[in-house]
Amino acid sequence: MKHLINTKDLSIDEVISLFKRAKELKNSTTDQNRLKDKLIITIFFENSTRTRSSFEIAAKRLSANVVSLDVSKSSAKKGETLFDTAANLDAMEPNAIVVRHKNAGVPKILSNYVNCPILNGGDGAHAHPTQALLDLFTIKEHFKDVRGKKIAIVGDIKNSRVANSNIELLTRFGLEVILVSPIHFMPKLNNFKKTHNIKEIIDEVDIIMSLRTQTERHKNLIYASLKDYANDFCITKDLIKNRDILILHPGPVHRNIDIDDEVLRDPRCKVLQQVKNGVFVRMAILEYLINQNGKNSK
Ligand code: NCD
Repeated sequence: MKHLINTKDLSIDEVISLFKRAKELKNSTTDQNRLKDKLIITIFFENSTRTRSSFEIAAKRLSANVVSLDVSKSSAKKGETLFDTAANLDAMEPNAIVVRHKNAGVPKILSNYVNCPILNGGDGAHAHPTQALLDLFTIKEHFKDVRGKKIAIVGDIKNSRVANSNIELLTRFGLEVILVSPIHFMPKLNNFKKTHNIKEIIDEVDIIMSLRTQTERHKNLIYASLKDYANDFCITKDLIKNRDILILHPGPVHRNIDIDDEVLRDPRCKVLQQVKNGVFVRMAILEYLINQNGKNSK
């Protein structure tokens, strides 16, 4: 049984063929019914605006049936263990389950107890594989050949599952990742160029991926204020000037803290393009995991 827990679950060839399919889906004007009569359950134990709706729209565009568990009303609140929740969901015979949880490792644990693919919609600070896939898809759409391109990942890298998944996937595709953050948000990773000063690397990068400060994952307030953070790390017109550079952000954006209003309106900023591409990339991955597992059986 193949699951998508983190980006390492997919080989380079698999990612390339998923992107080929996502592109086909993006260019198609007809309805798709590859997942007709399939049941997809989404269960989000942590807030989400984009990822959950993106998965649900993707599933519906492939004619699947979607059931979203309302976690605020689910039995997890009544003390049911994760194991029992998984076993009960599995008894309904879904063809895939999409899960998000504030604890790292939950999708992996669930995958040991169910008979369908688990897709990780983000677990703690660990991984967010579909976000990294849609980010790479958006970068490839722009540059075609991404090998040797330099990307600055800017912000709360240490607490970001988006950063983790992107670092793994983008380096495998030959991009050079530069880590830019205040000292308290810098992860302990070797083999990467690191700086606390974005101006130092602005002339050499092709892409900037700005990240939201993950306030919900901080045990103590470890920075003075978001305003101070913005002084040093906000992506402004003054910083990027007329450089040929791509600006990405997984959302939700802290406006004028992560990226300022002017840059958000700038055509070099691909935030909404990322959201749009996310649906097609998720269609491709749902189709791939469900049909593959259907064919190879359990
Ligand atoms: C991200 C997440 O939830 O990890 N958002 C998303 O899925 N688009 C990033 C974030 O919350 O900052």
